[in-house]
Amino acid sequence: MGLILMMTEFIKVTPLDPEKEVMERAASIIKRGGLVVFPTETVYGLGANALDPVAAGKIFAAKGRPADNPLIVHVHEPQGAEPLGKLEQRTLDLMSVFWPGPLTLVIPAAPVVPLQVTGGLGTVAVRMPAHPVALDLIRRSGVPVAGPSANRSGRPSPTRAEDVMEDLGGRVEMILDAGPTDVGVESTVLDVSGEVPILLRPGGTSLEMLQEVVGKVFSPSSGNELARSPGTRYRHYAPSIPVILVEPGQSPSGCDAPTSGMAYVGISPAPFPAVAEVCFGSVEKYAAGLFTALRELERSGASVICAELPPGTGIGRAVRDRLERAAGKARA
Ligand code: TXA
Ligand code: MG
Repeated sequence: MGLILMMTEFIKVTPLDPEKEVMERAASIIKRGGLVVFPTETVYGLGANALDPVAAGKIFAAKGRPADNPLIVHVHEPQGAEPLGKLEQRTLDLMSVFWPGPLTLVIPAAPVVPLQVTGGLGTVAVRMPAHPVALDLIRRSGVPVAGPSANRSGRPSPTRAEDVMEDLGGRVEMILDAGPTDVGVESTVLDVSGEVPILLRPGGTSLEMLQEVVGKVFSPSSGNELARSPGTRYRHYAPSIPVILVEPGQSPSGCDAPTSGMAYVGISPAPFPAVAEVCFGSVEKYAAGLFTALRELERSGASVICAELPPGTGIGRAVRDRLERAAGKARA
């Protein structure tokens, strides 16, 4: 489908008690097959009716997303997942512990889910977000809402409505602005369609927390399993200038001269004179602010971004994963 340019309505909503009139209009856009950007607890999502192949198809044109990269379907209550696919006891257990929240579950898909949404994989990714605006929108729409992150394909995910406007202004009908998102990295994607659950993408729900509920989780670092989550094949989260990575406390080799035009982002302060610097102090704040920091540092006039890697446990696993992708390092 070709890209249609349009006027984008940018509307502020009260996060905990969104304005009814605005939400009704947003839902009516979804009902008639249009695109609405909505906040979640992780990042902003680009929403369309998940059961309408034409509506879901518009998402790909707006994002410039490869057609074989499947979409997450958002529901406003756990029962909303029932018609979408097969829910085994283990899946129900995970839903009851982690929903609403940043956990996406990949389950065998029901025929009602269009090919545009499943990518033809035979599975569907479902999630119930922990954000009143997202839940209100899905409930009023009366349909499950397909929603990838609301960035142009390959760009850092948006954690502020302004970042969405920068990427998708003129490509969506409405952007609901509820301020910066809390978690900042996207949901964890867990494939529960097979024998052993597979961690396809580390995210806002830690591997350690999942293991407490389901025991063994396969966490592929390389090899064929990655082919199961098509999104992991593409370069992601890339700012327009190069990103180099350093372990905590290390100085990037050869880049400590003040004239080197290097920006810095990390938990601890920059170990060299940086032209621009974002120091978060904790791994949670790093997760929440990473994508906005990457967007800001690329505008700082620096020629390179040096990023400090956090320890790879808890939400740090997701931050490391996104930084490695931003630096152009594929996991496979
Ligand atoms: O936090 C989030 O998950 C955000 C908010 C908006 O909900 N959404 C998000 O969607 O990050 P997206 O499309 O940017 O990333 C979804 C990931 C992609 O890597 C995609 O390939 C994978 O989930 N995925 C979706 N459906 C899948 C399926 N059936 N099997 C395997 N992987 C799937
Ligand atoms: Mg994305």
